[in-house]
Amino acid sequence: MLRYLTAGESHGVGLVAILEGMPAGLKINPARINEELKRRQQGFGRGKRMEIEKDKARIISGIRKGLTLGSPIALFIENKDSSLERLPRVTCPRPGHADLAGLLKYGFTDARNVLERASARETASRVGIGAICKIFLEVFKIRISSKVLSLAGECSQAGMREKILEAKEKKDTVGGIFEVVARGLPCGLGSYVQADRRLDARLSQALISIPGIKGVEIGLGFGYADKFGSGVHDAIYYSKNKGYFRKTNRAGGIEGGISNGEDIVLGACMKPISTLINPLDSVNIITKKPAKASVERSDICVVESAGVIAESVCAYVLADAFLEKFASDALSDIKDNYQNYLKRIC
Ligand SMILES: Cc1cc2nc3c(=O)[nH]c(=O)nc-3n(C[C@H](O)[C@H](O)[C@H](O)COP(=O)(O)O)c2cc1C
Repeated sequence: MLRYLTAGESHGVGLVAILEGMPAGLKINPARINEELKRRQQGFGRGKRMEIEKDKARIISGIRKGLTLGSPIALFIENKDSSLERLPRVTCPRPGHADLAGLLKYGFTDARNVLERASARETASRVGIGAICKIFLEVFKIRISSKVLSLAGECSQAGMREKILEAKEKKDTVGGIFEVVARGLPCGLGSYVQADRRLDARLSQALISIPGIKGVEIGLGFGYADKFGSGVHDAIYYSKNKGYFRKTNRAGGIEGGISNGEDIVLGACMKPISTLINPLDSVNIITKKPAKASVERSDICVVESAGVIAESVCAYVLADAFLEKFASDALSDIKDNYQNYLKRIC
């Protein structure tokens, strides 16, 4: 079983990630982790913070001579802007953020105590963890990618860019829809036997846990709702070369909570960024008088980055499900288990 924990504030000393359950013997190239961290920071529409931070992970534990030891892997990502102790108090909570609910829940009088952890900067830790999970999955030729499908309703590259420029001009923000695809998966990951073992449920939870993600689709998703059953399911075929296969993949690679051997296709919708340069109405929590919401340094559009984070959290879920099915503490045993299984199901 895999598990992870992250720690760190947006402007604290740095971010920490601990991943436990990776088998021993996996070759880790630290450059690959940094490559993924860099991808998270890119995309048209990112703000000034990403010009300051150049994320790099320091491996603290769990790897020796380039190979995993089977012990917890700890990563540390330093914050270049670590001004946490000097940053001003925030007393006008921003709509669309954890600010107000967090203030009330934890009994604070400074929303900075909330937003520093609620910030999506935390997702750098998850991308570090996801990178290790991707390296593991790639041993078995499983690859995960993402792409932006639309921004503010625009689907063409030029249209999407225009929307970001328009938002910048109007001091506004945009959201959008992205897709994540996992290729090369075997049939049989996840299970229908308990609700919390369903692969669709686990992937949905992972996607919706990314800040700003408000909708998740699997396969046709909401597109199922306006069609007849005869037009939406994927007929089953068999050939000696391919084994069982489908000519369509409307299910998005999962049936009954189990991967069916086709590509896993997920969609997710991200809301427009909540921090606005022209802030919405709020209330000063000290005076209880009307006030404009606080303004923090902010992005205009991060849908592309959210796609990279989504790849990472999906990599974690898929690596976890893969280890559940082909479990061992040593990578070499897992390879044997996998080959035996493939022989049986062909
Ligand atoms: C990569 C990434 C970067 C983000 N950057 C910002 C930002 O600069 N400003 C902002 O207001 N929200 C940003 N968000 C979204 C907020 O973190 C999120 O909307 C907020 O924490 C509230 O959570 P919720 O939208 O899930 O309810 C970002 C999200 C992601 C995934």
